[in-house]
Amino acid sequence: MLVMTHPKLPAITLMLLCSSASVLWGFPFGPVLDLDVIPRTTVPFNGLLGCNHFHGQTVNYSTLLLEDGSGVLYVGAREALYALDTANISAIRNNSSIDWAASAEQKKQCLSKGRDDETECYNYVRFLDRYNETHLYTCGTHAFRPRCAYIDVERFSFVRFEEGKEKCPYDPFKGYTGFIVDSEMYSASQYDFRSSPDIRRNFPFPNLRTEEAPTKWLLEADFVGSALLRESINSSIGDDDKVYFFFTERNLEQKPYSSQTRVARVARVCKGDIGGQRTLQRKWTSFLKARLVCSFPEYELQFNILHGVYVLEGPNVQDSLIFAIFGLEWKNVKTSAVCQYSIRDVQAAFDGPYMELQDSKWREYTGKSPGLRPGSCITDQHRAQLINSSRDLPDNVLMFVRRHPLMAREIQPIGGRPLLFKKNADYTNIAVHKVTALDGNTYNMIFTGTDDGWMHKAVQLGDRVHMIEELQLFKESQPINNMVISYKQKSIYVSAASGVVQVPLSSCMRYTSCYSCVFARDPLCGWDGRQCVDISTYPVRSNLTQDIQMGSRGCDNITEDGFVTHRTRSVMVGHDLLLLCELRSNLAVPHWTLNGEEMQGYAVDTGYRIGTDGLLIIGAQTRHGGHYSCYAVENNVWIPICSYMVRVQPVPPPSPHLPTDPTALAERFFTTSTLSISPSSESNEQPLYPLPSRPEFHTNLHMEAMYISMVAVLGGLCLVLTVVLLYVSFCAHSAPSHRKYTQQELSITPTTERKQSSHVELKTISSHCNGRTDGLYAAASTDEEFLQIISGDGQVSPNKEPPPAPPLPMPPPLPATEYANGLSASLPTVLRKINGNSYMLLSQMDSDMTSPLYHSFTEELNRILEKRKHTQLDMQPDESSV
Ligand SMILES: *[C@@H]1O[C@H](CO)[C@@H](O)[C@H](O)[C@H]1NC(C)=O
Ligand SMILES: *[C@@H]1O[C@H](CO)[C@@H](O)[C@H](O)[C@H]1NC(C)=O
Ligand SMILES: *[C@@H]1O[C@H](CO)[C@@H](O)[C@H](O)[C@H]1NC(C)=O
Ligand SMILES: *[C@@H]1O[C@H](CO)[C@@H](O)[C@H](O)[C@H]1NC(C)=O
Ligand SMILES: *[C@@H]1O[C@H](CO)[C@@H](O)[C@H](O)[C@H]1NC(C)=O
Ligand SMILES: *[C@@H]1O[C@H](CO)[C@@H](O)[C@H](O)[C@H]1NC(C)=O
Ligand SMILES: *[C@@H]1O[C@H](CO)[C@@H](O)[C@H](O)[C@H]1NC(C)=O
Ligand SMILES: *[C@@H]1O[C@H](CO)[C@@H](O)[C@H](O)[C@H]1NC(C)=O
Ligand SMILES: *[C@@H]1O[C@H](CO)[C@@H](O)[C@H](O)[C@H]1NC(C)=O
Repeated sequence: MLVMTHPKLPAITLMLLCSSASVLWGFPFGPVLDLDVIPRTTVPFNGLLGCNHFHGQTVNYSTLLLEDGSGVLYVGAREALYALDTANISAIRNNSSIDWAASAEQKKQCLSKGRDDETECYNYVRFLDRYNETHLYTCGTHAFRPRCAYIDVERFSFVRFEEGKEKCPYDPFKGYTGFIVDSEMYSASQYDFRSSPDIRRNFPFPNLRTEEAPTKWLLEADFVGSALLRESINSSIGDDDKVYFFFTERNLEQKPYSSQTRVARVARVCKGDIGGQRTLQRKWTSFLKARLVCSFPEYELQFNILHGVYVLEGPNVQDSLIFAIFGLEWKNVKTSAVCQYSIRDVQAAFDGPYMELQDSKWREYTGKSPGLRPGSCITDQHRAQLINSSRDLPDNVLMFVRRHPLMAREIQPIGGRPLLFKKNADYTNIAVHKVTALDGNTYNMIFTGTDDGWMHKAVQLGDRVHMIEELQLFKESQPINNMVISYKQKSIYVSAASGVVQVPLSSCMRYTSCYSCVFARDPLCGWDGRQCVDISTYPVRSNLTQDIQMGSRGCDNITEDGFVTHRTRSVMVGHDLLLLCELRSNLAVPHWTLNGEEMQGYAVDTGYRIGTDGLLIIGAQTRHGGHYSCYAVENNVWIPICSYMVRVQPVPPPSPHLPTDPTALAERFFTTSTLSISPSSESNEQPLYPLPSRPEFHTNLHMEAMYISMVAVLGGLCLVLTVVLLYVSFCAHSAPSHRKYTQQELSITPTTERKQSSHVELKTISSHCNGRTDGLYAAASTDEEFLQIISGDGQVSPNKEPPPAPPLPMPPPLPATEYANGLSASLPTVLRKINGNSYMLLSQMDSDMTSPLYHSFTEELNRILEKRKHTQLDMQPDESSV
């Protein structure tokens, strides 16, 4: 046990913690941060366009079988199966559902086995595939006694039931994959909770499985996917078709991975395998497995837990690609990566050297292997030796196969690193769609589902991706269970516990200008001169504008007249003013001009703070008056958003009660530069702004005192921030991943008193703790306790005491008079300046409140400022809009 006696020890520990964290994954400010892919736009649930939803009588929609040709989507859920119309899954079809509940008797047995009534003692449909032209085959957990059944497609009803043991797992949560091809059923799972994991061919006879002795071929394997590749087609060596399985299993390999207990794998078997004659009877003779690597070698960041795969078949089977989603071994760190593998690299690994188990560790096998390549499919080379099937293989080959299932060569991702890296997201599913864009190139569109009901949509550009958008597909946070893409309907069907949703592959009409259409870089969208359209439905493609490669070319130049709004704002000397400029794109950077000149360096002393919401003028001086313009800069294109004429009004008489000592002055400084908020009431006798002009601050002494206190406050804040961010990064089981991406860092204060139900939203207007401005972090928290910000009280009544200061080195709370003057009771927002460098806007929201995109608190603030302007300065009315 470490006893901390030295006063500096905690600080040193903290520093060590920081540096090890930075090494581990560059958090919070390290280089890995830069790799995090930001979705260009964030679409909350109520912003979805053209989606159709299906909710049956039940829950746990897990299994999807799409038959694009006949236009039917078959869905397996808890105790029910559905046949939906792919054109619109909400439309109810005739004879479209089958109830398949476990019998009361079976449920009773399940309970008596001590299984969970609420979760396990149901029939969860886990397998659904086409059996032959007229029938489907399905399996369910059936309250811990798996059963399978044939379904007559025509009538959509069961015709025959079968034992489901060893085809379907007992446990609804157990990793499971499988499919039927050519009336052969392949599956992989740990079927029974007592048995070992197994890869099987369930029918036709003879059933095959994996070997368990003397070498276990699978170690606590957790399966996530499988695929058949028709490698026999046009094979020069007379090769067989192969079935690939993807899973994570326990790691018994030697360094350099010994620190990791789990490892991602791909295994394969040959479709023509029928097992051995004496050795490996009813076992695979062609089972081989290899490691899938997904890492950033330069940061020693290894992703080793597989969550899903998608095999994208190429025109030639050798050109097929594997997209795999990975997570980290630490369950409490939400981070995902997508790695892309070439099937050639996979084949090369299976053709390479073997590993051998020595002293319960796997090491490369350097001895000789038998003449015929062990684990290979039956090829022309075998046939030349009159070996026509796996039963003819010599014993020495099969003995070798039995003890050498693992390959020594590991499979590296294309490009040697992940294609996509995403913090604060746990991907559960992936689907990939190939699209030919207007430039004639083919692009892979990558759809990933998260564990909280969102879908990310990205386009692959060489060795990186551009994330087009993130969509909240389900209102309640829940993991995405499954995703399938229909080429015919241009839709993706996504299932989760609460239902199935049909999402158009693109919603081009969301982009209302040429530039937003081009910036989106959606290969399915193009600008036709008037609107952003789906290019596949457009007759004359040559008239369309699209720029997937750069995302900037093809639109006409934008002139100053492009400003959407022109406004006038007035402010009294010494007061603060927020000029709103909200950017729709998370990738756009706000740039401001003052009187036509670009504003540079928003340092502490200029009196400006810039944020994603707008520009804040702090303690306005006459020099701050002028014409401000806000631009959203994306891909080096400046898009005018809005412009403001700012007038600074002369000073009111100073208050007689001015403090004189430096600390009080500093205090005063913080207090006075807090945004003063005017009441909406008409009767206002007392002067609202008894604030000083600032002749006092012109003395060096006072300036010094002020700066010192500010530096101290900033330093303290930095420290707290680091700790909080570290805490969040390591301990957060669900950090805020979506909602709003700010271009500035976030100031977070931990509070514990907040109830979980109260939603706190936070936006920040710049802070420059470490001088970086490209740090990216989510700026809104919905239900994370640890991120609940500051004790800003949403329902401040005029006479109430100000809320207690959060545990931060902070300026004193606002004097009560400010509240009395500044807040109407109805106002849901509280603005709080926590130090000289950052502002926070807080609110308590109802639980059904919409996203920050649709409800900006700065709008609220702006309204307040507007009111203040009217009531206080009696200005000419706002000349808004062009
Ligand atoms: C089924 O759905 C419920 C929520 O409706 C969820 O809590 C549960 O984990 C789901 N079960 C499975 C097996 O997915
Ligand atoms: C799908 O069907 C539902 C119910 O019949 C209907 O409300 C919805 O408008 C349809 N959607 C489309 C895109 O036609
Ligand atoms: C099925 O469709 C037929 C006609 O197509 C109709 O007569 C029948 O009522 C429908 N049944 C149900 C259950 O909707
Ligand atoms: C619906 O199912 C019933 C029997 O279950 C069958 O008689 C009827 O023909 C089916 N209707 C359609 C439209 O498939
Ligand atoms: C499909 O399989 C079912 C169930 O085994 C069988 O009854 C049916 O005759 C088969 N249909 C065809 C066309 O082979
Ligand atoms: C196989 O080769 C033939 C002739 O070379 C070609 O026409 C055909 O497209 C190939 N098939 C596949 C699936 O590659
Ligand atoms: C393999 O097939 C060839 C030709 O089809 C046949 O002549 C030979 O006897 C077969 N060998 C065995 C061991 O079955
Ligand atoms: C395409 O552009 C040409 C000229 O650039 C124009 O004449 C034609 O009408 C356009 N077609 C459509 C469908 O807009
Ligand atoms: C756009 O601006 C560039 C340089 O500013 C100019 O060369 C080009 O002609 C302009 N294009 C249009 C369509 O106005």
